[in-house]
Amino acid sequence: MTTEDYRFAQPHFLGIAGLNRPEAESLLDLADDYVEQSRRTQKNSDKLRGLTQINLFFEPSTRTQSSFEIAGKRLGMDVINMALGTSSVAKGETLIDTAVTLNAMHPDLLVVRHSASGAAELLSQKVDCAVVNAGDGQHEHPTQALLDALTIRRALGSLDGLRIAICGDITHSRVARSNVALLNLLAAEVRLCGPPTLLPSDADRWGADVFHNMDEAVVGCDVVMVLRLQSERMDQAAIPSTREYFKFYGLDRNRLAKANPGALVMHPGPMNRGVEIDSDVADDPAISLVTKQVEMGVAVRMAVLDMLATTRMEAAK
Ligand code: CP
Repeated sequence: MTTEDYRFAQPHFLGIAGLNRPEAESLLDLADDYVEQSRRTQKNSDKLRGLTQINLFFEPSTRTQSSFEIAGKRLGMDVINMALGTSSVAKGETLIDTAVTLNAMHPDLLVVRHSASGAAELLSQKVDCAVVNAGDGQHEHPTQALLDALTIRRALGSLDGLRIAICGDITHSRVARSNVALLNLLAAEVRLCGPPTLLPSDADRWGADVFHNMDEAVVGCDVVMVLRLQSERMDQAAIPSTREYFKFYGLDRNRLAKANPGALVMHPGPMNRGVEIDSDVADDPAISLVTKQVEMGVAVRMAVLDMLATTRMEAAK
């Protein structure tokens, strides 16, 4: 698979919504190639040499920011990480003024994470370069969904017909929203499970079956994806205590035993160990895909950056 085989129809990558199945599968196929490139001793190519990528993260990140930086460098780009604590954002410069200022330096790709839903789309209307959404509020985290799909596809061969439970703090999760959209696109059966306080009232209209009992939700599942309890996005306590939360919604070996034999465990990270997931399952390489998800993050982000940049360069010819 190469970008010569396929052109990305969109000038930006803002969400899974708007992506069709051939586009999603093409990105996964291209990412498969980048997994191989990333496992070589010599990992870098000059595919996108001469282009400039700016990472603009208004929220903390370990996995997404570092993997976007590595992805851009493996494709030969100059990559700049804006350190927002020491930038003029700290003096009160707005999101739009910051983006317009950076745009004047002619970047080719702007990777944005922001606490406001819709921030990446707003910026895409203000700049000339391609914008990639690296997570906007509770709205979307599309590269996370792609890396999750790639991880599952490589572990189990296909997503078609798989039953996947996404459990935990659904309300505050952009990962859940992007994953439900992509898993539906790839013909998996999706279940959402969490306490009523952490499940949006319209979750039954997302294209997933809704459960409040996790022991029932995992029955017959091939994959159990556990989400982080996002205390920083809660304006009031949504759970009585973390100990009680773990009792009813924590994934441990006993609960996982109710899923299909050989069921696999995923978590986008960072994990709250002993709150939503037990270390015993999170750290067992026979069942946990957590570190594989991180590896796939680099490959998927290389694919997204490559597809967007190549399409733009072709259009400019
Ligand atoms: N999964 C994820 O987005 O992790 P980071 O917040 O560390 O980027």
